[in-house]
Amino acid sequence: MKISSFLFTALTILMSLSTAISSQSPLLNFLNCFSHSSTVSQVIYTPNNTSFTTILNQKMIHKKFQTATTPKPLAIIAAKDASHVQATIICAKSNNIQIRIRSGGHDYEGYSYVSDVPFVILDMFNINSVDINLQEETAWVDSGATLGKIYYNIAKKSSSLAFPAGVCFSLGAGGHFSGGGYGNLMRKYGLSVDNIIDAIIVDVNGNIFDRKSMGEDLFWAIRGGGGASFGVILSWKLKLVHVPSQITVFNVKRNVDEGATDVVYKWQLVAPKLPKDLFIRVQPNVVQIDNGTKNIVQVSFIGQFSGTTERLLLLISKSFPELGLKNSDCFSMPWINSTLFAYGRPIGTPLEALLEGPQAGYSKGQSDYVKKPIPKIALESIWKKMIEGETLFMQWNPYGGRMEEILSSQTPFPHRAGNLFKIQYYNSWIDGSPESIERHVNFSRSFYKLMTPYVSHSPREAFLNYRDADIGANHPSNTTKFAVAQTYGSKYFKGNFKRLVNVKTKVDPENFFRYEQSIPTKTY
Ligand SMILES: Cc1cc2nc3c(=O)[nH]c(=O)nc-3n(C[C@H](O)[C@H](O)[C@H](O)COP(=O)(O)OP(=O)(O)OC[C@H]3O[C@@H](n4cnc5c(N)ncnc54)[C@H](O)[C@@H]3O)c2cc1C
Ligand SMILES: *[C@@H]1O[C@H](CO)[C@@H](O)[C@H](O)[C@H]1NC(C)=O
Ligand SMILES: *[C@@H]1O[C@H](CO)[C@@H](O)[C@H](O)[C@H]1NC(C)=O
Ligand SMILES: *[C@@H]1O[C@H](CO)[C@@H](O)[C@H](O)[C@H]1NC(C)=O
Ligand SMILES: *[C@@H]1O[C@H](CO)[C@@H](O)[C@H](O)[C@H]1NC(C)=O
Ligand SMILES: *[C@@H]1O[C@H](CO)[C@@H](O)[C@H](O)[C@H]1NC(C)=O
Ligand SMILES: *[C@@H]1O[C@H](CO)[C@@H](O)[C@H](O)[C@H]1NC(C)=O
Repeated sequence: MKISSFLFTALTILMSLSTAISSQSPLLNFLNCFSHSSTVSQVIYTPNNTSFTTILNQKMIHKKFQTATTPKPLAIIAAKDASHVQATIICAKSNNIQIRIRSGGHDYEGYSYVSDVPFVILDMFNINSVDINLQEETAWVDSGATLGKIYYNIAKKSSSLAFPAGVCFSLGAGGHFSGGGYGNLMRKYGLSVDNIIDAIIVDVNGNIFDRKSMGEDLFWAIRGGGGASFGVILSWKLKLVHVPSQITVFNVKRNVDEGATDVVYKWQLVAPKLPKDLFIRVQPNVVQIDNGTKNIVQVSFIGQFSGTTERLLLLISKSFPELGLKNSDCFSMPWINSTLFAYGRPIGTPLEALLEGPQAGYSKGQSDYVKKPIPKIALESIWKKMIEGETLFMQWNPYGGRMEEILSSQTPFPHRAGNLFKIQYYNSWIDGSPESIERHVNFSRSFYKLMTPYVSHSPREAFLNYRDADIGANHPSNTTKFAVAQTYGSKYFKGNFKRLVNVKTKVDPENFFRYEQSIPTKTY
């Protein structure tokens, strides 16, 4: 990434001049303002460009937004260096255009590429380098780099280093890390943000800061408070973590009519207390049996152990014999291969699969935190409801370990000690008709309602990276925009919301960086 601040200062002055004398459309004013930057023609796509739709859709996981009726950006700025990011901020601000910042495009509500006010997309996919420093055991990664690219590059350099982050390879560093970021190494090393030691950000005035010059408050806020409320993150510095050269993985499936409920019940008691090296995710799915004539719930127990199969089997036979784990269920492999396994790829899949782009579809995601075990009888009613919906599955991610050693106020992500596990609900379906979308979203909402007695309350906590437009909306106390923000803010951040508002008010007092669920300023 090039940072040319002299050029930029000259640019800013020119741009302010040009907008002052112009009376054209906001887009033409924006382009005019931006055009003082030398490489503009390779960077800006307007609807006139033949590849506009291709660029718009390439990092868009929701097919429902790939329609003619979805509001389109005035332009997409596919920034190639810091000066393009600076110019986008300055020119959008001076023309009253909102920006949507997109890195991997996996936002559950599409907030990185859809808006109902005039907007441009600042697309970060071209700013994607990954630079590993073996001596320091660190890496500088740009926002537009995908997790797969980061994992792949780490593994090319070392078989004993890794980074704790998400399971899906096509997630972008920009959104994923600024929302917390978790994966199978969470019980051992915490979240991604617990292992981020520096960052480069462009603020609302186009200034570029690193950790030292942005200060600890802002550096705190962008590690879990969501980046897009505060500025544009260009890159992150990661502290890499140690893994054995071989780790052990498994994925064993138990059907509910063969006693899976008892195993899940016991899992709730033991999984958050197991040694940090062992992570066992529970994934209940609806599957067809009897040649497609019957739906049942099948639970996958997907495990990752930083150690040998022998030690794993010993540990399980002592702490969790109900799982019935056998030697033949276990596979030893380097950490990098395990990232493919964890995402359901068959053993032997070439590592290049890590570099694949996202796949669009229809889905609705939500999250919950569980603080006391769900009774067996309730588990049975949960499975029954899942079967009704057919397309919803869950991922239950055990907490404890490193997660409970870190204070809730250490980062904006507040869900630390006291949680047994987090639930992610994921409803995904094929038919994109309006009726089908409404029916599936209805089902997700009724499922979420059914779960109320078993999950956290006051507030009912939620994970920012599993953004959900439902929370906060239609709340009885939504008398002001700030009250709405307080509702989703308390769910995502609990007591940290207040500090986030303070940081926001300091770094972006005019609230330029805003979207449906951004951090408000004090006077919003
Ligand atoms: C299939 C799938 C699997 C997932 N698996 C996991 C998982 O294992 N673990 C986990 O923690 N999460 C997971 N998530 C959630 C994911 O972490 C979030 O959706 C995350 O926000 C995605 O980041 P992104 O850059 O891909 O998305 P984007 O849609 O590009 O961005 C998400 C948000 O971050 C903002 N943003 C993006 N880039 C920047 C930037 N450079 N500066 C400032 N703000 C920025 C956007 O404006 C938007 O508000 C998953 C999501 C999906 C769809
Ligand atoms: C978009 O079209 C304009 C005008 O035709 C052109 O100058 C510009 O280079 C195109 N942008 C890209 C990224 O190709
Ligand atoms: C797009 O094309 C139309 C028709 O050629 C033209 O009038 C308009 O100015 C163009 N817009 C931009 C932003 O280039
Ligand atoms: C399973 O279903 C298919 C298609 O409906 C049918 O052809 C086949 O005979 C069935 N098999 C069994 C074992 O019932
Ligand atoms: C891990 O992946 C590499 C590269 O694809 C492959 O050569 C190796 O056989 C894999 N190892 C295991 C145990 O899967
Ligand atoms: C979805 O739920 C709403 C409100 O309960 C209801 O009016 C609507 O008919 C439902 N839609 C579908 C397709 O089931
Ligand atoms: C508050 O909720 C009502 C519906 O209950 C909705 O119409 C309104 O837009 C909401 N207000 C805000 C500020 O979100």
